[in-house]
Amino acid sequence: ENAQLKDIIGHAKEYGFVYPSSEIYDGLQAVYDYGAYGVELKNNLKRLWWETMTRVHENIVGIDASIFMHPTTWKASGHVDSFNDPMIDNKDSKKRYRADVLVEEHAAKLEKEGKAEEAKQLTAALARLLEAEDLAGVRDLIVNTGISCPISGTTNWTDVRQFNLMFSTQVGSVAEDSSTIYLRPETAQGIFVNFLNVQKTARMKVPFGIAQIGKAFRNEIVARQFIFRMREFEQMEMQFFVRPGTELDWYKQWSETRMNWHLALGTPAEKLRKHDHEKLAHYANAAMDIEYEFPFGFKEVEGIHSRTDFDLKSHQEFSKKKQQYFDPEVNQNYIPYVIETSIGADRLFLLTLCNAYTEEKSEEKSRTYLKFHPAIAPVKAAILPLTKKDGLPEKAKEIVDLLKYDFNIIYEDAASIGKRYARQDLIGTPFCIAVDHQTLEDNTVTIRHRDTTEQERVAIADLHGRIAEATSF
Ligand code: GAP
Repeated sequence: ENAQLKDIIGHAKEYGFVYPSSEIYDGLQAVYDYGAYGVELKNNLKRLWWETMTRVHENIVGIDASIFMHPTTWKASGHVDSFNDPMIDNKDSKKRYRADVLVEEHAAKLEKEGKAEEAKQLTAALARLLEAEDLAGVRDLIVNTGISCPISGTTNWTDVRQFNLMFSTQVGSVAEDSSTIYLRPETAQGIFVNFLNVQKTARMKVPFGIAQIGKAFRNEIVARQFIFRMREFEQMEMQFFVRPGTELDWYKQWSETRMNWHLALGTPAEKLRKHDHEKLAHYANAAMDIEYEFPFGFKEVEGIHSRTDFDLKSHQEFSKKKQQYFDPEVNQNYIPYVIETSIGADRLFLLTLCNAYTEEKSEEKSRTYLKFHPAIAPVKAAILPLTKKDGLPEKAKEIVDLLKYDFNIIYEDAASIGKRYARQDLIGTPFCIAVDHQTLEDNTVTIRHRDTTEQERVAIADLHGRIAEATSF
């Protein structure tokens, strides 16, 4: 892990954002827990996504489907047969790797060394072998290229095998009755199987969308880079059902809408890029990722896919239930085509944290702060009485009562005011509101702004409006 990521992971743990799961037992690989400020930040991100999807668009509604689904769902979706990653073990270190990732990382290294042509040939060879499902060929590529295990340093590799990423468990209390079911590896299928339920009961007309936020589970072989790749994570997905033939226009529109959403959240344009998929999954006729420049390079945050009618058609085949829509405008029955936007809440969280993490170093002062957009900051304002006497705490608590029903507010009266400002900077609170003796006389307070550290005098009566304005999206 590089130094910047290490700093961010350390910061996230020390200031109540993210901890390793069950840490007292040394943690569980690729599983994490969110702390007091982490859960606020994550909830804010989820709410913002939800509101911009369902409230802004009158033709998008939400659902909340279960994690467990009928096992045939995953046969129909193709996950049982093909939700696999090629894995390889190093015989000396006994470490397991994703074979494709090993090759890709080696190619990235070559590129950094200025060997762009070699890197290109390597990734092209990998793509060809994966396409042909030639696992022995992938192993030969690894061996012949001389790719070594980062732990043992040797090239003593096993065969490459396919590894299904779905977690399975048993339902039913009696062993003989029990059957294998899966923990969903994506939330999308809960939307597809409910397509007609929602269309009929919410009285939707094509084009329309269904949005969902929920947990998904994948037994990832490569579990690194903090919360970038987790085994239990949350997805925010939206399936947009359109008339066949119109899907590529909608795909273009959703690609732009989603990119603009990231920009509006304050992610700089130069840190975002589109990556069009050259190789398309069998069900897609167009696909792209929105990538963000993490400390470990540009990586996928969100996928936008034109999934054709693959999923609904397949569910119709497997369930023998018609998945058609009657379109009164064209007087036709058809299976709609689908544009999907899919983003991981945890990955968006990591983007937000990386983007906000700011270290300022100058001769006079150095400070670290989290520069969150006020709309997503976990705490909107800290109310800080200058001293613990003369009625200042009581006055400060009146201000807390004034604001706490609409904003997440912190009250703090311990330590010097400078230390309290510094502490709020570390959790990214945009406004510190200091209550002093003048407050008792004229009902004004000092607002100290996180990013500029500038201070201004404001009437208590104006606080609510000021915070509301700054924290709206
Ligand atoms: N329904 C489409 C789908 O699931 P995906 O590209 O496999 O597509 C979509 O996943 C998004 O979910 C990714 O862009 C990423 O943000 C998030 N995601 C996928 N696997 C993840 C993991 N192991 N940990 C965290 N987030 C993950």
